[in-house]
Amino acid sequence: MPFDVARVRGLFSTLGDGYLHLDGPAGTLVPESVARAVSAALRVPLSNRHGPFPSSARADALVDAARRAFADLVGGEPAGVILGPNMTTITYGLARALAKTWKVGDEIVVSRLDHDANIRPWLTAAKAAGAVVRWAEIDIETCELPEWQYDGLITRRTRLVAVTAASNAVGTRPDVRAIADRAHAVGALVHVDGVHATPHGPIDMVRLGADFFSTSAYKWGGPHVSATAASPAVLDRLAPDKLVPSPDAVPDRFETGTPAFELMAGAVAAVDHLAGLDDTATGSRRSRILTSMRAVQRYETEVFARLDRGLRSMLHVYVIGSPADRAPTVSFSVQGWKPRAVTEELARRGICAWDGNYYAYELMEALGVGELGGAVRVGLVHYNTAHEVDRLLDALAKLR
Ligand SMILES: Cc1ncc(COP(=O)(O)O)c(C=O)c1O
Repeated sequence: MPFDVARVRGLFSTLGDGYLHLDGPAGTLVPESVARAVSAALRVPLSNRHGPFPSSARADALVDAARRAFADLVGGEPAGVILGPNMTTITYGLARALAKTWKVGDEIVVSRLDHDANIRPWLTAAKAAGAVVRWAEIDIETCELPEWQYDGLITRRTRLVAVTAASNAVGTRPDVRAIADRAHAVGALVHVDGVHATPHGPIDMVRLGADFFSTSAYKWGGPHVSATAASPAVLDRLAPDKLVPSPDAVPDRFETGTPAFELMAGAVAAVDHLAGLDDTATGSRRSRILTSMRAVQRYETEVFARLDRGLRSMLHVYVIGSPADRAPTVSFSVQGWKPRAVTEELARRGICAWDGNYYAYELMEALGVGELGGAVRVGLVHYNTAHEVDRLLDALAKLR
């Protein structure tokens, strides 16, 4: 069954602004169903949690529904889903909690491929605990993250390995399972940044070997709310910083302050949106998500091949990296143009693209483009089309 992109685009009233949105890796557009769900949550009485009246029961129900939705999306358990305002904030909290279990001389492994949100919180926590930080390096030419290097990086003292499921800058999907197996062999935990990977294919955090899997709804049609899924048994062993009177149960004790209940409604609608991307999919929501996301992956891979071929055929465009397994996201530079000048020119032509380091700070430094203003990034999601790719390629061809 071919992916019905025309039907899918019809779900987004936000696509009608005349711009071509190739900035999905920084945040996607929101389908109408999500905007309506957020609004609907606020158009009935809604109060704080744990009260004995209906408006409070609604808040409880929104939190429960969000945990179930995030769990369905990543193949996790609702009772292990930590909700939060964004991945960075959740990861800082988790890093502080895990660091309480580390001793001086323990070790953690981070990767040069990662977004800074899956590096800096761990480095800060390691410093506080006196833990040693080891770095997994990228192959500069391909931008792959060779998994064999983890044989030397992981030791009996390793407590945590943090790695991305897909790079938000160059698309690389490392072999997370192979890395996780090495970590688990010494009893280390694995924190997988799934923020960039989640919109681009089916996710099964157990098969990936993730003890923690983080994702942000605003990268897949949802509002600005995030979650990290873990096994409740692992969370049970941790003591995050928390207020004395706030709930001590798992996963609530990992969530500080009052959450944005209305955005939970939006996150549930966004998961339902993903589950319905292949409208022939049947069965449970989890099974419809898997079917739909397989269709999304096939579709995006095909459109991305056109983009990649087109970019590489232009002599004035230099494409960064050539990872074998990748998300439909690419960074490049244009000869004679600063990255910001390229995105400004594209914006004048009605095309949204990103420039800079997109917080993939270590990667861009390793590639030597950090001080040159980074690079230009284009990313496809399920509402982008081959026609849009051609419009982008035409615009870039004019920058010679
Ligand atoms: C791969 C990746 N990880 C982490 C983050 C941080 O996510 P958040 O904005 O939810 O903190 C981003 C955001 O761009 C990202 O692309």
